Amino acid sequence: PSNKLGDGLLSITLPEEFKDTASFDINKDKSTVSITVVGASGDLAKKKIFPALFALYYEDCLPEHFTIFGYARSKMTDAELRNMISRTLTCRIDKRENCDEKMDQFLNRCFYHSGQYDSQNNFAELDKKLKEHEGGRISNRLFYLSIPPNIFTAAVRCASLSASSANGWTRVIVEKPFGRDSESSAALTDALKQYLEEDQIFRIDHYLGKELVENLSVLRFSNLIFEPLWSRQYIRSVQLIFSEDFGTEGRGGYFDNYGIIRDIMQNHLLQILALFAMETPVSLDAEDIRNEKVKVLRSMRPLQLEDVIIGQYKSHTKGGVSYPGYTDDKTVPKDSLTPTFAAAALFIDNARWDGVPFLMKAGKALHNKRAEIRVQFRHVPGNLYNRNFGTDLDQATNELVIRVQPDEAIYLKINNKVPGLGMRLDRSNLNLLYAARYSKEIPDAYERLLLDAVEGERRLFIRSDELDAAWALFTPVLKELEEKAIIPEYYPYGSRGPVGAHYLAARHNVRWC
Ligand code: NDP
Ligand code: BG6
Repeated sequence: PSNKLGDGLLSITLPEEFKDTASFDINKDKSTVSITVVGASGDLAKKKIFPALFALYYEDCLPEHFTIFGYARSKMTDAELRNMISRTLTCRIDKRENCDEKMDQFLNRCFYHSGQYDSQNNFAELDKKLKEHEGGRISNRLFYLSIPPNIFTAAVRCASLSASSANGWTRVIVEKPFGRDSESSAALTDALKQYLEEDQIFRIDHYLGKELVENLSVLRFSNLIFEPLWSRQYIRSVQLIFSEDFGTEGRGGYFDNYGIIRDIMQNHLLQILALFAMETPVSLDAEDIRNEKVKVLRSMRPLQLEDVIIGQYKSHTKGGVSYPGYTDDKTVPKDSLTPTFAAAALFIDNARWDGVPFLMKAGKALHNKRAEIRVQFRHVPGNLYNRNFGTDLDQATNELVIRVQPDEAIYLKINNKVPGLGMRLDRSNLNLLYAARYSKEIPDAYERLLLDAVEGERRLFIRSDELDAAWALFTPVLKELEEKAIIPEYYPYGSRGPVGAHYLAARHNVRWC
């Protein structure tokens, strides 16, 4: 349709004097990037987006000519936005050299426009201001929709009709949730595609921007020792674990409409699973990688109710401190059955993974905060040492752990002889602890993703067919849980979660680590 935003750099006809010159350099000098954070007054903008933009600026990763605009309904002056950014900004750069000086330079590039999300006029005013800053250069525009999902479409419509670039590219970053099920997700995709081409939509799953998740493919495809073992032949089970040691405080209103399966499993953990299990892509090109991820997702068996258990945290007092239950939050209905914990067993019905359980566990208000991938290998056949020294079989298997956070690390549990005259076996770790190996701090996921969006790199963003496949896996079970009003197993705040998770794992011959 004619009202679609133009992803237009390729279609620009260069003036005669620029012919035979490298187009990259021409665009660099003659172009500018305007980044508009829609919903700039909100939590995510303050917590993640502005700090990530500043970190990119500090590291000289943003283009020479760039401008940042905050857009929201709240009334704010440019000075107030700058004040908000510098007051709330905590990021890895804080303690670095010249941080204050760089911050001042950065803030000078930040501006604010107040407007409604469904007003073409207000976006037209924004367009006017953007043009003033772009100063006649080729204008490339990135809109980051950091707003509640019910206003995504209205904002995209107005941005597209009134504030898209006339001569450069226009891209839109969309934050989750991308619907609640297959149907609503498809409706959102259709609505966005009235105004945008698929390659202009950058659907964020910030777990894809995490260092260790990025490293998964490197680990698999650039080390000879792992890939040959990466199949049902040698891997007994895979665990994908997400836990947080705090509840849904402050986000109860959002969370109650979604629950932990939609909030964490259907996106973050499933994306990790897809990268973990995909076949070798033809190249590192975004489309080749996303093609392989879609194939894995499409090979998966839709989740069955008997392969899911759900839980909800309840209040608990420990050491004289009392921790609230999920339904103590005023924004959550007292009789809510929304799961704050879930464990599930998933299967990939293809030749590589047939019969291997992929166990997922995600929960809020648990005893620790971590995100890990744990790969349990099969037993050594006829293990000489088990036979002769009675080693516990479970203890003897190898395990590869990819700790996404905190304390990023990759370690492999191996069996080893305890030094000495006797023959005693011990389990040790071959350990790559990032903090010990690399002195540089790890960038926040949002930095990587924002930079990729500016550069047009789509590898770490979700394509619409991936999203459809992800929802197809979870929608039937989510409907069943809700229709049958399945009661979650209650677990105390700060505990290890419902015991049902252990029964589920045991049914698949697995023990949680
Ligand atoms: P907020 O609830 O803080 O909303 C962002 C801004 O949107 C607000 O400052 C407000 O700005 C405007 N807004 C809020 N509610 C409404 C409404 N009902 N109608 C119109 N405008 C409204 O959201 P977050 O910043 O927490 O999140 C933004 C997006 O990112 C959401 O889609 C969320 O699901 C997603 N997300 C958030 C995460 C987080 O940690 N916060 C994590 C992952 C995803 P104003 O009133 O000034 O217009
Ligand atoms: C978000 C979820 O996507 O990820 C939150 O909506 C969760 O519920 C958060 O807390 C976790 O992200 P991180 O990067 O802190 O592990």
